[in-house]
Amino acid sequence: MLENMTIVGFFIFFLIPLSVCQQHADTPPRGWNSYDSYSWVISEQEFLHNANLVAQRLLPFGYEYVVVDFLWFRKMEPGASVTSAGFDIVDEWGRPIPDPARWPSSRDGQGLKPIADQVHAMGLKFGIHVMRGISTQAVKDNTPVLGNLNQTWRARDIALQDEACSWMPHCFVHVNESSEGGQAFIQSLYNLYASWEVDFVKHDCVFGLDDFSLEEITTVSQAIATTGRPMLYSISPGVQANPRMATLINSFVNMYRVTGDDWDSWHDLQSHFDVARDFAAADLIGAPGLLGFSWPDLDMLPMGFLTDPGAAHGPNRWSRLSLQEKRTQMTLWAMARSPLMFGGDMISVDDTTFDILTNKIALEINANSYGNMEVQILDAIQEYTPMKELVNNTTMLFAVVDELNHNRSIAELRQRFHTRIWMARGIGGEYYVALFNLEKWSIDVSLPLIGIVEEGLQIRRVTNDTMDYQCQGKEAWSNRDIRTMNGRLHATLAPHGCALFSLHCYLS
Ligand SMILES: *[C@@H]1O[C@H](CO)[C@@H](O)[C@H](O)[C@H]1NC(C)=O
Ligand SMILES: *[C@@H]1O[C@H](CO)[C@@H](O)[C@H](O)[C@H]1NC(C)=O
Ligand SMILES: *[C@@H]1O[C@H](CO)[C@@H](O)[C@H](O)[C@H]1NC(C)=O
Ligand SMILES: *[C@@H]1O[C@H](CO)[C@@H](O)[C@H](O)[C@H]1NC(C)=O
Ligand SMILES: *[C@@H]1O[C@H](CO)[C@@H](O)[C@H](O)[C@H]1NC(C)=O
Ligand SMILES: *[C@@H]1O[C@H](CO)[C@@H](O)[C@H](O)[C@H]1NC(C)=O
Repeated sequence: MLENMTIVGFFIFFLIPLSVCQQHADTPPRGWNSYDSYSWVISEQEFLHNANLVAQRLLPFGYEYVVVDFLWFRKMEPGASVTSAGFDIVDEWGRPIPDPARWPSSRDGQGLKPIADQVHAMGLKFGIHVMRGISTQAVKDNTPVLGNLNQTWRARDIALQDEACSWMPHCFVHVNESSEGGQAFIQSLYNLYASWEVDFVKHDCVFGLDDFSLEEITTVSQAIATTGRPMLYSISPGVQANPRMATLINSFVNMYRVTGDDWDSWHDLQSHFDVARDFAAADLIGAPGLLGFSWPDLDMLPMGFLTDPGAAHGPNRWSRLSLQEKRTQMTLWAMARSPLMFGGDMISVDDTTFDILTNKIALEINANSYGNMEVQILDAIQEYTPMKELVNNTTMLFAVVDELNHNRSIAELRQRFHTRIWMARGIGGEYYVALFNLEKWSIDVSLPLIGIVEEGLQIRRVTNDTMDYQCQGKEAWSNRDIRTMNGRLHATLAPHGCALFSLHCYLS
């Protein structure tokens, strides 16, 4: 029975990624980000409280970064909001620094160093969000640029005052990176972050269709390298990002958003399937990046207790994703090997959310799988009767009869039943299979194992022999033991739900 495992083993030997480097971002980064639960208003105390809980509860599962998201340098005063100019604090060199009223430990020019120290003492790594360019506050004050420069440069010499971020136009303007002063200013920013011992920078307004700037990304990437401090470089946003755009930048960054902001709606979640498929198909998952690999980023996980985009208050409501939708999100993020950044409040995290974030199979796939892809339904439908569909919505996908006569049925089926199938291989020889139901009703799916196994081995073959393979393993969300019958894998998928299998397969 098991003799044929050697064939499988042969393929594994050649497919395991061999690069095991010392640098960070060898696997998709994991952590917590303050944005989904605290918008821009998080305080020092709230941040450290959350960090402490991340260290206690999520760090054992690899969630190691705690990232304070945008506008930590903005004063919280009447009139201040996400779009208000004039409330930011900049130092004498025009660089954003934390407001001591929100970050008491930053008094006396200490910046975020005392926060980083506390985060490091918890065993975590410290991240900050930064905006592209220069604060209009610095431009107004015409602050000098720090650096050993041949001439004196000031903010107004380097600011491109008519060029601003598409989604936050009033508070920052772009910097001319081609000038000595512009480069020196950017370097001075990253020298400051390095002096604070920042480990992770999320740089916003440089990626996606509206704000893409290759020059800004390469300049910052170089500035990070020049500091000598390994800082993980993450770029955002990713509105209408495409693989071609990604190949221009991925060697300069560790992770890059490939969608706009993701919030807790099915609409947002569903929009990630096509883009995840396209980046996987373009071989961009884990492509060479800055100090290691680069990771297409599907954005934070908005589960648990949350706030709203742009709100001026912390968490006050529960995620609107259903249990099934949360599992679907975690499963897609696992199969697409996206960075995993939890967005919910750690102080009030619910058990269900915690269980989803720490699911062993999902995390293993996220960290250690390869060959990840959305699988096209190559083969024809074996049994497909409209009657059956109307009775109980059963579909039979992926069957293995002659494909040629069934193209129209496949197209129709995909149209009617938005079912997605992802596959990947594990380093222990596993076959990972994720079945997603994008519909509002439940769907029964039945896959022939020959499709799974041979797809996993990249063999394309059309055969009627469905009896060759058997698989056993687990389904991740039910924790059910799986032993296949009749050469097929069956699952009933709840509305917007999924099944995630970790299997070992062999010829019987
Ligand atoms: C600045 O001066 C140094 C040394 O005099 C010189 O090598 C460098 O080219 C100068 N840079 C610019 C931008 O003029
Ligand atoms: C940027 O700086 C370079 C070098 O000083 C200069 O040639 C160029 O005109 C500047 N670009 C803009 C848009 O001001
Ligand atoms: C759906 O219908 C098929 C046959 O028409 C039957 O074998 C199967 O058990 C049904 N499934 C459910 C969930 O009712
Ligand atoms: C079915 O689709 C395949 C792949 O797209 C194509 O090669 C084949 O010609 C199609 N068959 C028919 C009958 O249209
Ligand atoms: C079957 O699908 C229809 C839509 O075609 C849906 O209205 C119905 O609720 C589904 N039934 C079940 C049992 O899921
Ligand atoms: C599969 O079986 C069908 C009917 O049983 C037959 O018509 C078809 O030729 C077979 N295909 C292959 C590839 O053997």
